Amino acid sequence: MVSPNAKAEEQALDAALRPKRLDELEGQDRLRDNLRILIEAARARGEVLDHILLYGPPGLGKTTLAHIIANEMGTNIKITAGPAIERAGDLAAILTNLRQGDILFIDEIHRLGRAVEEVLYPAMEDFALDIVIGKGPAARSIRLKLPRFTVIGATTRLALLTAPLRARFGAVYRFDFYDQAALESIVRRAARLLNVPITDDGAAEIARRARGTPRVALRLFRRVRDYAEVRANGEITAEVADQALRLLEVDELGLDYLDHKVLDALIHKFGGGPVGLETIAAAVSEEPDTIMDVVEPYLLQLGFLDRTPRGRVATRRAYEHLGVPYPEQPEQPSLLSPSEGDASS
Ligand SMILES: Nc1ncnc2c1ncn2[C@@H]1O[C@H](COP(=O)(O)OP(=O)(O)OP(=O)(O)O)[C@@H](O)[C@H]1O
Ligand SMILES: [Mg+2]
Repeated sequence: MVSPNAKAEEQALDAALRPKRLDELEGQDRLRDNLRILIEAARARGEVLDHILLYGPPGLGKTTLAHIIANEMGTNIKITAGPAIERAGDLAAILTNLRQGDILFIDEIHRLGRAVEEVLYPAMEDFALDIVIGKGPAARSIRLKLPRFTVIGATTRLALLTAPLRARFGAVYRFDFYDQAALESIVRRAARLLNVPITDDGAAEIARRARGTPRVALRLFRRVRDYAEVRANGEITAEVADQALRLLEVDELGLDYLDHKVLDALIHKFGGGPVGLETIAAAVSEEPDTIMDVVEPYLLQLGFLDRTPRGRVATRRAYEHLGVPYPEQPEQPSLLSPSEGDASS
């Protein structure tokens, strides 16, 4: 459904809106302060930056931050990803092309293969590359010196990282969901850069429904802008934003079609759980990874979902949000406000 043009437009927009300096990065205050110290200390000592691991749900700014770090350090950044480095030799080729101070950004670093990781350990720790020459009894290993460089690893799944790999990062930073104020600033900044008229209420409405995620905020902003141009006079007001987002099936907490599908399945098909992730994924015809990375973190954050050893469980709040009576034995009816849940349908 997305035309190549729309895709190109989106990428161009993304490049224009991506913050380039630490000062332009909204939210994540603690992370930003820590990072500023790390960068200034390294710069003052004329040292290469320590290896940095960034983790957190998708769309919160890990890739953006890696570029910002390179900018702030005034160094080159080379971008790759765990699944793209198939063999140890691929990584060796990348490493031997690095120059002093370069940043090597490895996205989805939890998906590096075992053999590749073993090459990465000495590279990160001793800036050395061990190469085996020859085969059988005559084989011997020589050690190549590498320039000092910085690995920035990014992952949505810290738990999948092996302990030895994790231990090689001098700094580990977690991204949290953004608060309302930060998301409002991000939306207002985008509007300013793109010359789109927007009221404070309009920005607030988009921010409130962005599930704590800048990528979502910017995506909703683009769609609301379309709606404002086609159905209104181009200005994004709270009312215009609300109408546009209803049309997109984004509810007042930012839950979209897929979130609703997951909650519906959990509550109606599986009696509220507990039920395994794979089973939920199959019921809604989605990849378990998508459910785990995209859907669950926000539902957990809202307190709509519990993870128990026996599986996922829908909480009372989830029932309330959907306007479904919470199943409980006592005679008194539960406190529900059915109008809250689905005014849009
Ligand atoms: N703090 C921020 N301020 C303004 N815009 C931001 C901020 N963080 C992220 N963005 C924007 O949100 C979008 C997503 O950010 P980014 O691609 O860096 O996320 P990510 O964490 O790398 O996601 P993934 O895990 O999917 O790779 C980008 O368009 C970026 O410009
Ligand atoms: Mg990324």
